Parts: sequence; C-alpha cells; structure tokens
Amino acid sequence: MDDIGITYYEDSRVFKLDTPNTSYMIQIVDEEGFLGHMYYGAKLPDTTFGDWLRTKEYPFIPSKNNRERLAFLDALPMEYPTHGVGDFRLSALEIKTQGGHHACSITYFDHKIYKGKPNLTGLPATFGSDEECETLELTCKDSVLNLTVILNYTVFEDVDVITRSAKVVNEANQPIKLLKVLSASFDLEDDNYELITLHGAWARERMVERRKIAHGIQGVSSSRGETSQQEHPFLSIVNKTTTEDYGEAYGINFVYSGNFIAQAEKCSSDLIRIAIGINPVNFEWNLDPGEIFTSPEAVMVYSNQGIGQMSRTFHDLYRNHLIRGKYKDSERPILINNWEATYFDFNTDKLLDIARNAARLGIEMLVMDDGWFGKRNDDNTSLGDWYVNEEKLPGGLNYLVEEINKLGMKFGIWMEPEMVSKDSDLYREHPDWAIQVPNRTAALGRNQYVLDLSRKEVRDYIYERIRSILHSANIAYLKWDMNRPLTDLGSYALDEHSQGELSHRYVLGVYELQERLISEFPDLLLENCSSGGARFDPGMLYYSPQIWCSDDTDAIERLKIQRGTSMIYPLSTMGAHVSDCPNHALGRNTPFETRGYVALSGTFGYELDVTKISEEDQNKIPEQVAMYHKYNQLIRSGDYYRIASMMDDPTFDCTMVVAKDKSEALVTYIQVMARVAYRNRRIHLKGLEENSYYLWEETGEVYSGAVYMNVGITMDGLWGDYQGKLIHLIRQ
Ligand code: DGJ
Repeated sequence: MDDIGITYYEDSRVFKLDTPNTSYMIQIVDEEGFLGHMYYGAKLPDTTFGDWLRTKEYPFIPSKNNRERLAFLDALPMEYPTHGVGDFRLSALEIKTQGGHHACSITYFDHKIYKGKPNLTGLPATFGSDEECETLELTCKDSVLNLTVILNYTVFEDVDVITRSAKVVNEANQPIKLLKVLSASFDLEDDNYELITLHGAWARERMVERRKIAHGIQGVSSSRGETSQQEHPFLSIVNKTTTEDYGEAYGINFVYSGNFIAQAEKCSSDLIRIAIGINPVNFEWNLDPGEIFTSPEAVMVYSNQGIGQMSRTFHDLYRNHLIRGKYKDSERPILINNWEATYFDFNTDKLLDIARNAARLGIEMLVMDDGWFGKRNDDNTSLGDWYVNEEKLPGGLNYLVEEINKLGMKFGIWMEPEMVSKDSDLYREHPDWAIQVPNRTAALGRNQYVLDLSRKEVRDYIYERIRSILHSANIAYLKWDMNRPLTDLGSYALDEHSQGELSHRYVLGVYELQERLISEFPDLLLENCSSGGARFDPGMLYYSPQIWCSDDTDAIERLKIQRGTSMIYPLSTMGAHVSDCPNHALGRNTPFETRGYVALSGTFGYELDVTKISEEDQNKIPEQVAMYHKYNQLIRSGDYYRIASMMDDPTFDCTMVVAKDKSEALVTYIQVMARVAYRNRRIHLKGLEENSYYLWEETGEVYSGAVYMNVGITMDGLWGDYQGKLIHLIRQ
C-alpha cells in the first residue's frame, strides 16, 4: 500500500490513517489516554506532529488534579465522546447503569492494525480484500464500568474513504443499558462551513439543501423505522466557497436502513462536531455481562476538489465495495412494470398483452407489480396472504411465466414481505405478529400494519412464503416494497425491559431475510423499494444493486430527485422508468425522448401500458432499447459529473458520464424551459483528457478535450420546453 494505510507513531502517540489523497489522525492525550481527533483532510506527508489538539493552551490543558477538567473535556476535539462527565457537546455513547447512572468515560487501552476488513455480523457493510484495505481496532475502556469500546477504522487502497463502526462490550458482572451508540463522530475547526443535507417527501425524495452551520445543534434524523423520504442519513460539510468542482467537501453517510441521526454541532469554541449513528429516540439496548453490541457502519469521504469529487468517491466505494452479486457489474434486463399501466386492474390476458407488445419492441422483462395475491384488488387487503389469486391469474404463476418466457422475456414479481393488511388471513390468524402496543389502537398506514420482524417465527413464515413463490415459477426479479413507517412500537415477544430494542431488531430482521434470500437465489435481481424511495440507503444496497428511486416518474421532477440521489449513490443504483403522460404524479406532458434520456441515467425501464401509447411513441422504444445497450456499460461504470442543475437555474439541466479510461463520454442535456432572444446556451464539459481529441458522434466534429472543457459546446436545435439531447464523445 506504500503511503496508503495506517501507521502508529509511538513517540507522539498518533494514529495516522492515509487514503490515496486524505489523512485522518487520532492522538492519545495525556497519561490518562483520552482520544483526541487531531485532523481530517487533505493528505499530509509528515511523520512528526505539533500540538494540534492544543492541549497546551490554557485552560484546555488536561488536568489530572481535576481542577480545570471541565474546560478541557468540553473543548478537546474528542474522537468518540461519551456522555455525562464534562463534554457537554453531542455524545456518541450514552449508557445507564443498574444504579441509574449515566456517566461514562473511555480512554485508550490497546490497539491492533491489520490487513483487510472484518465483517459486521448481521449488518451490511463495505468490504475489501487484504490487499485493498487496512483496519485499525482501537480499544478503549471505562474502568469504573468495566465497559470496553472498540473503535474500528478501515482505509481503502483505491478510494478516499474511511469507514467506521463501534463495538461495545460489557465486561462487568451486571447488565448495562445502552441509550445511544453512534457509529462515528469527529470535530472540525470551523472554517465558514456549510451543511448540505437531503430532504423530501413521498414523490419528492432527496432534494438538496445547503445552509450555514450556526452555533448549536443542527442536522437530520428519522424515527420512522426506515431511513425515510423526509430526511437522509447524510451530511456534507463544505466551505462557503465550495462548488461542484472546487473546494473542500466532507461527506458522511450511514450504512443502515432504520432510525438515524446525522448532526453537526458548533460549540462556543467554534469547533464543529459531526456525528452519525442510530437515532437514540426509540433505541435502548440491554447489554448483559459478556455481550457485545455492534454499531452499523459510517462512511466518511473528504474531497478538496469540490462536491463532485466527493460524490464520485461515494459512487466508486459503493460500486466496488458494497454492492454484491451477479448484477454488481453487469447489465440489467430492460423491464416493463405494470404498476402505472394497470394499477390493481389486471389479469393474465392483460399482462400477456403488454408482454407481447413489449417483447416485439425489444423490452426484456415483464414485472408484475402489486395485486396478484390474496383478494387484493385495491390497497386495503391481503398483504401477508402470499398465495396467487387464480381468479386474476388462471393457471397460476407458472402458466403466466411460461407464456412470458416463450416470448423471450424474463419475469419479475412484486412483494411487500414486511407488512400485513388488517383484512388478511394472516392478521386474523396471528394478530400478535403485528407491531402494536397492547390496548392501544395502532395507527394504520395504507390500511396495513408492520410485521414484527424481530421475531424469528415471523421471519421464518414470511421467508417460507417468499421462497415458495420464487420456486413456483421461473422468476428472475423481485421488487421488495415497504409502504408504511413503524409506529406504535410494541412487540408481543419482547419483555418490558427490551421493548426499546424493537426498532433496531426490526432492521436486523429485514437484513437477515434479505441475506437469506440472496444466498438461496443468487441469480435473482432484487430491487428494493419503499413507497418510492423511502429506504434508498447503503444498507439496502448491500442486498440489492438497485432501488426504486421515487414514485414520481415525471422526467423533469426526476432531474431533481436523481440529482440529489447522485450526491451519494451511483447511477447504476437508481431505479428509473419511462412512464406515460400526462404523468400520473403531477399531470405534466414531456416528450417520449426526454423521458428516455432521463431514465437512461438510471437503471432504465418502462412503466406504462405499451398497448395504449401512440404508435409514434411505441416506435421510439426500439431506438431507446438500442440507446440503453449502447450506453449502459458507460453509465454503470463511468465517472459522473453534474454540470448544471435546474435547482439552480430552472431553465436547464446537464450532467455527463466519462469512462474511467477517458475513452468516451456521454452528456445529457435537458432544456427544461425554452428561452427567447438569447443565444444558444454553451456548456463547458468536465473530466475529459485535455490533450486527447474526441469525436462528437452526432455532428462529426473533432476537438480536443481542452476545447470541450474550456470553449464549451453550443446546445442548438432544441425547440420548446422539456426537450433533451445526448452528446456522445469518442476519443480518437
Ligand atoms: C409503492 C411503489 O413505489 C410503487 O412502485 C408500487 O410498487 C406500489 N407501491 C404498489 O403498491
């Protein structure tokens, strides 16, 4: 790894974690051994270090005699701050002893540095081989509580990423309650920093928001039992002057699919503490003697080449070190999903009609969405009754799938395994399998309850249903949906001391089910979904290479949604379809071509009744299919550049993908609103080789990369609103 890896400098008691372009440093402070967060940023070549933690600066001097201990504890940039002993800023760890006390203080005990990266049992996590990764295990102890905290850090050889997680081990002979165990925390000296977060709603996921970091605590969270549409487990900390291409950008993301907090606190000494982890709201964990609690993983990125480079680093990490399975690096079949085509109103004949026409146009897979099971003709019933409705599908799944396979198409199916309808045989038989508080009427969402996946018998039952459906026919794809958050937290299987564990146990249950699924069906293409994109997070990406991005399939709205999503996640993960117009979410009409260009920056597929759209639009599908096959490899594996966003200027949007070897590039330009009495817009491309010459395939012109990037290219030939075009450049 040469200068990439982890070094311990014994003289200065400094751990230095080096990625290709960044350094992260921790120092053991004082003979007591507090862990101070020394530095995170651009790579430092140094091997000797000064008093960067400023522990010699009065009154922030560590003091064994306790006289000014508070001044020290409340000002030291702490590596993993604990609650209750004098650091009044955000804490990463809070406990409660049997005696009801909350004080906890951890100091350095021991460490290990080794090649590779350990798995996090039962949790999704990034991975890498011994050649690719190095790990630091920093063991700390609270000697009063007999509590051990192991902080894990991994650096990667090929990406500017540091991953973190924490393990808490109870070595006492009494149980202890964990009230808060975050995954990562670090302090930065303020430099006019701003915070970028992603907020949203159903059909409006991951809108980018930027604000100044003020004194006090600010941040985002979810207590919905899932990551949520409303806020996202991600913070980016940028300078006031940082842009897409220039300046510093820190990014922190959470490999977890449940409740989270991601916070920044600017304190009176102008340090900013960044913290991310499981939301302490709805969380308590009993740690019996000898037991271990493992936090999920946090991913940290630093870029001094702007926000764009931060995003590309996340993309590379997730493509190479998180997503698994057959479809990690391969083209996915172009699917047509019947949700917006038929909603619940379909049967075998209707699906075959769609499939026949779709196959003729080159579409490769039919996905049968919600409504094929139990008595489900609307969303009020039957979740949990995973038996084929033979009134709708005479001959069952097998007949339908065989007929579809005969057309040369694959078949995919929708399920919502985590839920149970109030009106279902499953709920009538096992009302106690739903998450509910005894004697309290639980809130319904879409007329359904959430199954208590903390219970093994519930997971086993659901898994048996999923596998028996998947084994009953030749099913190549599963859309795993989840359409309401968790409320009325109560499990009939947990005692009164353990109810606080339900939310986390639920998420672990989802992970266990999906791990079982992909182990038994390694060729299955799994797409996660949650009322659109309410659970679009790295946790789910560990199990499924793609996630349905949003129920808003309008091409123009998708520009915003996909832009926010691209802050962290690669295009290969974004479920994106061409749907019918007027768009079902907001009634907008956009040209069929534009819908294709926007969906191309995702997994690409269709969500319409192909038998009902105009012949003119039908005829465009084979061209779009060819477009997908031509560009998908580039889009899946290339470097993504955001050039202009309609969030900044509502009249246009432009992005591009450049091949890793710079041999080709694809620009997507959307003229959102036409303008009059202006010259055509000129776009400056990014990421090309300055001294290589590129053929502009559509015009036959050849220019150097320097020309495309500095002079730019003129967007002409577009007439009217919502028009788009692709520009393909090929290195000569
Ligand atoms: C929500 C999903 O986002 C939609 O695509 C569709 O599958 C519906 N659920 C079905 O109920």
